[in-house]
Amino acid sequence: MPPQLLLLLLLAASLAPARAGDPYAYYDWEVSYVSAQPLGVKQKVIGINGQFPGPALNVTTNWNLVVNVRNALDEPLLLTWNGVQQRKTAWQDGVLGTNCAIPAGWNWTYTFQVKDQVGSFFYFPSTPLHRAAGGYGGITINNREVIPIPFGFPDGDITLFIGDWYNRDHKELRKALDGGTLLGAPDGVLINGLGPYQYNESVVPPGIVYERINVEPGKTYRFRVHNVGVSTSLNFRIQNHNLLLVETEGSYTSQQNYTNLDIHVGQSYSFLVTMDQNASTDYYVVASARFVDAAVVDKLTGVAILHYSNSQGPASGPLPDPPNDQYDTAFSINQARSIRWNVTASGARPNPQGSFHYGDITVTDVYLLQSRPPELIDGKLRSTLNEISYVAPSTPLVFPGAWTAILVFLDNAGIWNLRVQNLDTWYLGQEVYINVVNPEDNSSTLPDNAMFCGALSSLQKEQSHRFIYSEASPVAQWRNTVSLLFLLSSFTIWLQ
Ligand SMILES: *[C@@H]1O[C@H](CO)[C@@H](O)[C@H](O)[C@H]1NC(C)=O
Ligand SMILES: *[C@@H]1O[C@H](CO)[C@@H](O)[C@H](O)[C@H]1NC(C)=O
Ligand SMILES: *[C@@H]1O[C@H](CO)[C@@H](O)[C@H](O)[C@H]1NC(C)=O
Ligand SMILES: *[C@@H]1O[C@H](CO)[C@@H](O)[C@H](O)[C@H]1NC(C)=O
Ligand SMILES: *[C@@H]1O[C@H](CO)[C@@H](O)[C@H](O)[C@H]1NC(C)=O
Ligand SMILES: *[C@@H]1O[C@H](CO)[C@@H](O)[C@H](O)[C@H]1NC(C)=O
Ligand SMILES: *[C@@H]1O[C@H](CO)[C@@H](O)[C@H](O)[C@H]1NC(C)=O
Repeated sequence: MPPQLLLLLLLAASLAPARAGDPYAYYDWEVSYVSAQPLGVKQKVIGINGQFPGPALNVTTNWNLVVNVRNALDEPLLLTWNGVQQRKTAWQDGVLGTNCAIPAGWNWTYTFQVKDQVGSFFYFPSTPLHRAAGGYGGITINNREVIPIPFGFPDGDITLFIGDWYNRDHKELRKALDGGTLLGAPDGVLINGLGPYQYNESVVPPGIVYERINVEPGKTYRFRVHNVGVSTSLNFRIQNHNLLLVETEGSYTSQQNYTNLDIHVGQSYSFLVTMDQNASTDYYVVASARFVDAAVVDKLTGVAILHYSNSQGPASGPLPDPPNDQYDTAFSINQARSIRWNVTASGARPNPQGSFHYGDITVTDVYLLQSRPPELIDGKLRSTLNEISYVAPSTPLVFPGAWTAILVFLDNAGIWNLRVQNLDTWYLGQEVYINVVNPEDNSSTLPDNAMFCGALSSLQKEQSHRFIYSEASPVAQWRNTVSLLFLLSSFTIWLQ
């Protein structure tokens, strides 16, 4: 079946200038290849400061972020901030239609404000298929202290990145797509960059390093779960534990328990999980593929371990059951529909999230977007939106057959990217850019450090401090923070 389509709509929210009083957070990142063997096969993955997944951005509403990115890969690089409003302008968005890529060996500094936002997001490299090799990490935007969160403050915060994974590197994957071949089934599912716990000797080979999440009995943790994979929807569940859904992509939800939740590519969810079991064993944390051939489901199952400090022994026996409708999308769609905004909770501001009445808005324009499986165009495999396939210029959930309507506030002038989240079909051209024009002020100012490329490349000054690209070094050991990802509707749109 064709991969389901996830659209990411990136629109900025506000035109007001940054207030000098808001705090600044500075990050200095080097993006390079590191060697890792998540599924037992040694390969080059993309790390940040030697870490895979990359370091977390843990900030508070309205903070200004300054992220200096040094590109120590052998290819041009851009990072994008999934779901985060690009406060000020699209110049910080980190996609090829609006930003020149950072050449290999160069650095570039992103500066943006997480204005009027709270919640769980992630960043990733937006340059062609780089996310298939890693380079992602969490973005947590905390509430300001004066604004209460709509639940008790959790005892701990755990971030999980779940995602399908190929043993082929991103260059080989690109070569396959360029040659007209779809990627085929992935080789496995990772949780925080690590392969599955050996829950069954005939399914998981020995010697795979898996994620272990250490918890205290009786405590309640906020699990932030992000699907950072290429194209596989994953069902997320924790053996014997309820997942109390509280937030998704910056909106507090009506609090409901789920025993499992489908999390599609690009989606982020927060659950509260209470350690209310007797710890007779450790417990399985599972992310298993949905809507794939039964023969590959065992292989496409990520397994981590939830370890109580008073645990009596290892997890054993079968994994908790997935939904019993592997091929029926109705369960997944209904589950997505069961998720409701909590309209009385505060968001980033003290006023209720529901104080804005969508029903009262005058709709000025309606656009229809149609997605189809990849097809041959001029002899090349391409994917399309409305039969048009996007080709990046050199100068800068929809389940199959379904559709969704998106209401968009075009309240930040600039050029914004609308794309599918599935990495393979995005690479093959499923994206467009929306030019939002402010008729009262159509001037546009380049940031001082704008990069120039393509037709304007003669304007770009050479950088004096080049990095030397080096072969991959081993991934840094850091396993203290765990991140979790979730699944949302079949078709997810972010308004940034
Ligand atoms: C993130 O920042 C908040 C607020 O400063 C802090 O309370 C929390 O412990 C931090 N979380 C992590 C995982 O570092
Ligand atoms: C590159 O990094 C240096 C510091 O290492 C910084 O001074 C400079 O502004 C950065 N260049 C750009 C274009 O951001
Ligand atoms: C919605 O948020 C309010 C305000 O924090 C809270 O009291 C209420 O329990 C929440 N309702 C649900 C269903 O989560
Ligand atoms: C291990 O997996 C195999 C293949 O799916 C299955 O036949 C077998 O029953 C499993 N073993 C246990 C102990 O669950
Ligand atoms: C969710 O499940 C937990 C038990 O795991 C229970 O204590 C709690 O009351 C449930 N919450 C809701 C809103 O159903
Ligand atoms: C712990 O819980 C499991 C599952 O509910 C149960 O089978 C087991 O008997 C319990 N063990 C103890 C020591 O209470
Ligand atoms: C910008 O606005 C001015 C005044 O309305 C108009 O003359 C000009 O053509 C506009 N420029 C562009 C690029 O739209």
